[in-house]
Amino acid sequence: MSNQQQKSSHVVWHESKVSQTMREQSNGHQGAVLWFTGLSGSGKSTLANAVEECLHGMKAKTFVIDGDNVRHGLCADLSFSDEDRVENIRRVGEMAGLFVEAGILTLTAFISPFRADRDKVRSIIGERFIEVHCNTALEICESRDVKGLYKKARAGEIPDFTGISSPYEAPEHPELCVNTGNHDLSVCVNQVVDYLIQQHVIEAT
Ligand SMILES: Nc1ncnc2c1ncn2[C@@H]1O[C@H](COP(=O)(O)OP(=O)(O)O)[C@@H](O)[C@H]1O
Ligand SMILES: [Mg+2]
Repeated sequence: MSNQQQKSSHVVWHESKVSQTMREQSNGHQGAVLWFTGLSGSGKSTLANAVEECLHGMKAKTFVIDGDNVRHGLCADLSFSDEDRVENIRRVGEMAGLFVEAGILTLTAFISPFRADRDKVRSIIGERFIEVHCNTALEICESRDVKGLYKKARAGEIPDFTGISSPYEAPEHPELCVNTGNHDLSVCVNQVVDYLIQQHVIEAT
């Protein structure tokens, strides 16, 4: 599934006897990635976790991969420079692809500010990639300032802060657009779960 150039020519793909379809059949739903993208404070983590809770209640196999958590381990070696942000999303995209193969409803919460990087993940994962744009206005995200980061960014204490000193390229054709500034969390959760049901990713319970 990887588009990366291998460094060694002696690596041979080993097929699995248990296919994605077999895993999906026993799970009772498809594997897919809900890729939440948006500014810091736009509600990605809150929404991803609330959607996961709802799906878990529907007996689905789920997992949230959160940007902040990944930077404690898998991507602890990466900074917030443009180059490292690209690598961050590449690694997570590959990982999300593995989760889809495992038949899991995977929810990722990454700012993922660059369109090209998200499109690369889309090309790795294919039709099971569902881009969810948390398109909450910058002013609302900044007024929430959940982690106090906007204040620090405005004071010049955080370089390359998305929306302030680093760009955010909004998706042009996301599968879903969720405005957490205008709607309660439960309304946003229903919007996402209804989409999955409508697309036959999971059946209504
Ligand atoms: N409808 C909503 N969906 C998600 N978050 C919301 C909503 N309404 C208000 N919020 C609040 O907005 C904040 C979003 O923060 P967070 O989920 O950490 O954002 P991000 O992960 O995008 O940086 C939280 O404090 C959350 O309680
Ligand atoms: Mg978050």
